[in-house]
Amino acid sequence: MKAICTLPHKIAIFTDEPGWHGARLKRALAARGFESSYVSLTRCQLNLDGNGLPIVIPGFDDGLPTGAFVRGVPGGSLEQVTFYLDILHGLKLLGIPVYNDARAIERTVDKGMTSFLLRHAGLPTPPAWVVNSREEAVNLAKRELESGHQMVSKPLFGSQGEGLQRHQKLEDIACLAESNGVFYLQRFVECSEQSHDFRVFVIHGKTVAAMRRYGKTWLNNVAQGGRCEPVRLDDLHLCKLAEDAVKTVGMAYAGVDIIRDVQDRYTVIEINSVPAWKGLQGVTEVIIADLLADDFLSHCTALAPRLQALAS
Ligand SMILES: Nc1ncnc2c1ncn2[C@@H]1O[C@H](COP(=O)(O)OP(=O)(O)O)[C@@H](O)[C@H]1O
Ligand SMILES: [Mg+2]
Repeated sequence: MKAICTLPHKIAIFTDEPGWHGARLKRALAARGFESSYVSLTRCQLNLDGNGLPIVIPGFDDGLPTGAFVRGVPGGSLEQVTFYLDILHGLKLLGIPVYNDARAIERTVDKGMTSFLLRHAGLPTPPAWVVNSREEAVNLAKRELESGHQMVSKPLFGSQGEGLQRHQKLEDIACLAESNGVFYLQRFVECSEQSHDFRVFVIHGKTVAAMRRYGKTWLNNVAQGGRCEPVRLDDLHLCKLAEDAVKTVGMAYAGVDIIRDVQDRYTVIEINSVPAWKGLQGVTEVIIADLLADDFLSHCTALAPRLQALAS
């Protein structure tokens, strides 16, 4: 590999909306002696003429960042999103730590692939289907409803509880959530008490914080008004399931959504590769931004000697 110059102690935080999370992260990195800049993936370029840096990142004209912390991949056309992921793949190939990396993001932004990987690993997750036609989705949902199961349809790339539909009876099927012709369906999981689920935050393979989220409706997302309550980390089943799920999708850190069914069995609903932690921070004593910064920087500093050797 050709030597790539990296700027010491300078981090790119990829985000289009830094907000509360970006500020917390920036502060935690600064406290550890690392400067950071917010960068939108929409403003990066590939420069493959053999001169200069192969990846152009605004604010990083003299060298690539020591590491890249991904707090958001913007939506767009298939070509645009592929291009944004190319930037992240490219940085990793050049030896720059990318947290979470493009592969992990691809696997979990797509709920169909998350379900596939969880099931393939033998981890508990509700039965799910991805089909390419409304007719098949409708037939599937009818079949499930007739055998006594409620269903949820979700945008394949959705987040924060946006665009999900619950199907309790045959008449509800008309409002199936659609993603440009693709339909993701998951069996609805009933809980024994008031609607709630768990958000478990895993860093470097270990659960660092968890909460119970009580939704105003069946949607328990904080963004949909869910109320957060702390969960102690001595529930080993819950923590182990979250950690196994994160290992399965190969992520450095993640927020795992888990629900407990009427038989008290935990099941993984989805895994988030760019999880929010504002709600969770309000009910936990650990400082999540500090834990993330420490783990992320341990990847960067582990690579620093290798990059310096390459550059000299
Ligand atoms: N299969 C399901 N059974 C019961 N509730 C569900 C199911 N899937 C999702 N939910 C509820 O909807 C919320 C959002 O679903 P999720 O798959 O996590 O999508 P998002 O990416 O929008 O957060 C979950 O936190 C949970 O409260
Ligand atoms: Mg979720």
